[in-house]
Formats: sequence, structure tokens, C-alpha cells
Amino acid sequence: MSKTTAAPPRVLIEDWLPAAAIGVECIRERSTGQQPPDKRLHVWWARRPLTASRAAVLASLLPADFPHETFERLLGFGRPSAEIVSVRRLMDTGYKVPGGFGYDRAFKNPWREDDMQLAQKAAKKLWGDNIAVIDPMAGGGSIPLEAARLGFRSLANEYNPVACTVLEATVDYPFRFGEKLARAARKWGKVWEERIAKRLASFYPVNRSGSVHAYIFARTVPCPDTQYHTPLVPDWHLLKPKSGVNVVAEPQVEKDKGSWRVRIREIGGEAGRLREPPKPSYSDGKGISLFTGRQIPSDYIKAKAQAGEMRSALYAVAIKTPQGLRFLPPDEGDLKAIKAAEKSCTSCGQLGKKQMSFRPSYIQKYRATSGRGYTGCRDGLTCFRPASFSALVFLSKSFVGFGRKYSIWRRNAGSLSFYYFLSFWTSLRTGTAFCHRGILQRVLLAACSIVTIFPSSPLGVRWLPCQQAAA
Ligand SMILES: C[S@@+](CC[C@H](N)C(=O)[O-])C[C@H]1O[C@@H](n2cnc3c(N)ncnc32)[C@H](O)[C@@H]1O
Repeated sequence: MSKTTAAPPRVLIEDWLPAAAIGVECIRERSTGQQPPDKRLHVWWARRPLTASRAAVLASLLPADFPHETFERLLGFGRPSAEIVSVRRLMDTGYKVPGGFGYDRAFKNPWREDDMQLAQKAAKKLWGDNIAVIDPMAGGGSIPLEAARLGFRSLANEYNPVACTVLEATVDYPFRFGEKLARAARKWGKVWEERIAKRLASFYPVNRSGSVHAYIFARTVPCPDTQYHTPLVPDWHLLKPKSGVNVVAEPQVEKDKGSWRVRIREIGGEAGRLREPPKPSYSDGKGISLFTGRQIPSDYIKAKAQAGEMRSALYAVAIKTPQGLRFLPPDEGDLKAIKAAEKSCTSCGQLGKKQMSFRPSYIQKYRATSGRGYTGCRDGLTCFRPASFSALVFLSKSFVGFGRKYSIWRRNAGSLSFYYFLSFWTSLRTGTAFCHRGILQRVLLAACSIVTIFPSSPLGVRWLPCQQAAA
């Protein structure tokens, strides 16, 4: 029996797409250091830009004869695509175009209600009333998010639990809870921030000439001959600008005391500068002892790591100043803070060992499949440095206790916890966590901005249709 199937209707993306201008908007979306909120919430790779995602969704739903200029406005273009490309070309020559593109980045722009109605009508004519956009491998969720913003039923599938969490926080909660979630995030985030800031203050001193940008640590192992801990540093550079002066940490060893610290030096031929950067004390898996100058074999380093004898030493602190980064050796306050963190680690060590430990079977599998040596991370205590670990434990505990005390988790159906936790894990991953108050700012910014931007009508999000689609 023969089966006849109707040819699928021809859609816009098969005939035409302002690809070059979409490319320009994708660059704008990514290049300003002000990523859209969904990107700031948590790191997820291969996440598509919002403008490209919206273009793909819309152009796959609209008929091939849909008016081009309406489509471009719906993408958030503030001028015709040809002009956008010309402006970009001009900018690429180095010319400073007065007023730039002349409109905000596309993903932020509201659309005209009559344009949206035209698009909805045209899509429904082609596909019927119950349009659903499905992304079977949705990752960080750009496509489902844009489909939902456009007011279509949006279905996302994903097998990675981290991406699923990101998806839920990005595509589900903002549309389900809307502005009230942003308000709650702001309110409770502030209360939480104050409590945490007080508790973590002893780990992160702020009594310097600027805010701490980074703490710079070295892994250390006992020197095989002297048993004094010696740093394994592949590169002593602290700053290597494309132009300007390189800055390094120069190790100063007190052999009789078995200690070392660094001097901050500039590199150059002028008086007072160091001619060459100091030689690395770690390269190709092998170390060089600062105390004897002799080589430390890689097997020895691995064995020490696996035996839990590898440590870390803070050797420089980067401070943000109006003139740029300034580097200092750690002072009394920094070292005292490390001691405080280590002490706190001892008291929460059990939690680190019990609840944050890798199973032996995982370690075995890692050894067998990675082809790399296992360097001794067995549990929370060995994965993080003391201050981060103590802060992590404190944050987790206070997070639950705080929620219980104010009964906020129940009221907000767990959604706030998603934002807070995602944000602070992001801070951990990107290394900004717990430096100064970085994490707290991130928690608040990410949690509030994502909820605020997407479902709010001034930016053109079709909040009601989304709610109806989700119902
Ligand atoms: C390139 S990313 C997705 C990008 C996303 N579609 C977007 O537009 O931003 C691919 C995603 O597919 C997921 N994935 C791969 N194979 C899968 C499978 N069999 N089932 C579900 N998800 C899968 C991966 O975990 C990853 O997050």
C-alpha cells in the first residue's frame, strides 16, 4: 500500500536569513563583558547566542514569504541588516563610528506587538494552533529560552544533570514565578549576604589598599633532602601584558630557616629591575627544590600527593587598583586568615571527608581511563584550599539553616536555592569565589537579573502566552 505524505511547507530559514547581521549581533552579545543573564548564571559550554537561537526558532516556524523587515525587527535589530553589517565593517577598519550601532544589543530590545501578532498568526497558519518547539539536546537552554520568550510551548531534553539544573533555572522558574521570584531573590540574598560576609570576614581580610582580585598559591611538596616544603611553580610571572612591563614573583629562600617568600619584581634592563624571570621550579612533571637546587622526580611528587603530603602556599596577592592590578607578597593579615581557615577546616573536616569524598571505585576508574596520574584529590578537603572549603561548608550549612529559619524555601518552591547554589558554584569554578565579596555579588546579580530580565514586559517577553503554554 502506498503512503502519500504532504510535502512540508517551505519555511523562511530555507530561503533567506540575514546571517551576516545575526553574526554581528552574536559578537555584540558576547563581546561587551556583559553577557545575557542566562550565561552569567552558570558556566555551560556550547551555549548558543540568544540572537542566533531566536533567529533559528523563528525562521523555522515562519513561512518563506514572511516580510524580511518584520523578521529583522523581531530579532531585535534596531536598523536594517545591511546597515548593521556596514557599520561593523567600518568599525573593523578601526574607524570609531559616532553613536556605534545606534541601538541596544538585539537580545535586549523589545519588539512591536503588531510584529509579534503577525508572526504568531503566520506560524499558526502554517503549523496549527499548538506549536511546540523541541530541543532534544538543549544544553544551557538558549533555544528553549528563546522559543519561550517568543511565546511558543517550549520543550527541552538533556541528559547531563548540571545542564538540566541550568535549564530549570533558566527556562522554567523565571516563567513560572516571574517578578516575585526576583524580588524574593533580592530580599533574601541581601539578608544572607550580610550573614555570610560577617562569618567569612576572618578568612578574607579586606584591610588593603584595594579589593583583593586573586590569591596566588603554589603547590608544595617536602624537599627530598631537607624535608622543607618547596613550591612547584611552572611560571613565576604574575603579569605578562601584551605591551608594558612584565611582573614576576622572585623567590627568596632562607635555607637555614627552611622557609621562602617572594619579592615582587619588574622585568627589564633598567636599574632595580630583574633581567630575567626566575627559573620555573616545576616543569614536565618534575620539580626543582628551592633549598638544594636539585631535581625532584615526578614519581616522588605523585607519591607525596597521594599520601596527602602535598600542601599549598600563598605567595602573592593581586589587588585591584584604579591603575590596574598591583601585586604584593602576603602580609600578616593574609597569613592569619589562612590559619583561621585551616582551623575551621579541621572542625568541618569530617563533613569534607564523609559527604564530599570520591568513591574508591571512581578513583580507580579515573586512573584506568584517564591515562594520567591521580594526584591525590580524595575528598572536599583535598580538592579545595582551606578558605574555600571552609566557606563552602559554611555556605552550604547556612544556606539550609537560613532557608529553614525564614521558611523561604517552601514559599518559593526551591527555586531560590537553585539560583543561589548555581551562582556560588559558578563563582567557585571561575575562581572568583570567596575573594573578597565576589561570590556574594554574583549570587545576587545572577539570581536577580535572570529572573528580572526575561519575564518582564518592557523587554518584550510575552509573559502570558508563556504561562499558558506551560499550563
Ligand atoms: C551543543 S550542546 C547544546 C546546545 C544547545 N542546543 C543550545 O542551543 O544552546 C549539546 C548538548 O547535548 C547534550 N546531549 C548529548 N547527547 C545527548 C543525548 N543523547 N540525550 C540528551 N542530551 C544529550 C549534551 O549534554 C550537551 O549539553
